[in-house]
Amino acid sequence: MESILVTGANRGLGLEWCRQYAAAGWRVYATCRYPETATELRALAGRHASISLHRLDVTLGEHCAALRAELGDSPIDVLVNNAGVYLEKYAPDGAIRYDDWLLTLQVNTLGAVRVTEALARNVARSRRRLVVAVSSHMGSIADISAPGSYYYRSSKAALNAAMKGLALAYRPLGIGVLILHPGWVKTRMGGWEEAPLTAEQSVSGMRRLVEAYTPQMSGSFLRYDGTPLPW
Ligand SMILES: NC(=O)c1ccc[n+]([C@@H]2O[C@H](COP(=O)([O-])OP(=O)(O)OC[C@H]3O[C@@H](n4cnc5c(N)ncnc54)[C@H](OP(=O)(O)O)[C@@H]3O)[C@@H](O)[C@H]2O)c1
Repeated sequence: MESILVTGANRGLGLEWCRQYAAAGWRVYATCRYPETATELRALAGRHASISLHRLDVTLGEHCAALRAELGDSPIDVLVNNAGVYLEKYAPDGAIRYDDWLLTLQVNTLGAVRVTEALARNVARSRRRLVVAVSSHMGSIADISAPGSYYYRSSKAALNAAMKGLALAYRPLGIGVLILHPGWVKTRMGGWEEAPLTAEQSVSGMRRLVEAYTPQMSGSFLRYDGTPLPW
């Protein structure tokens, strides 16, 4: 049975990754900060015996180590680094709060690398051997045409740089890395009114890219529909 591990699986895009892959018959390792209160994820797991819940705050090295120990030698075909924050959204006065910037980097950049490093051995033991970094077009420096969103933009630009480097580091292990922009999606982060895409549409597109993946694509930065994005 093929397997996927998703971070930030309790809501939004993370929950949808779990929903679609469980429906497709995959083994799903759903990770989130608070499994005991993850109501929707628990309901989904109640309908699919192939889903297991695991505690993972991506900023905590001890959580990564515990998860790695729990997984043992289990293969992970696709590791989805989905967890993310966009803290400027909740501080619209434009003032820069450096603690929030640091937290954004800890989650969006260091968190994704920490989880990937901890679980690379499991990915290497699988058939597909693929790491997905859920980034954003806002991590594209070429995309910047207005001020603002400094924490989020810099965290995703740094994520892109780190994942591009990991793609090279992992090539000898046969592990590939895809850096994906999910589109503007109706979630708590994307907003429910203006965002044009549903989580179902976005994840369906990203799943098609996972299916189409070949090693030549490793290190590329793509929109959910496969369009290449500028760095
Ligand atoms: N929606 C969009 O339009 C859009 C566009 C571009 C990129 N993205 C990216 O897509 C990804 C998913 O976003 P979303 O729209 O689904 O947002 P969301 O609904 O706000 O969900 C964010 C998820 O990240 C989790 N998370 C936050 N901090 C964490 C931590 N320290 N450890 C583990 N999990 C943590 C949250 O868990 P809690 O519930 O515990 O906080 C939640 O599950 C993010 O990386 C985001 O940057 C989204």
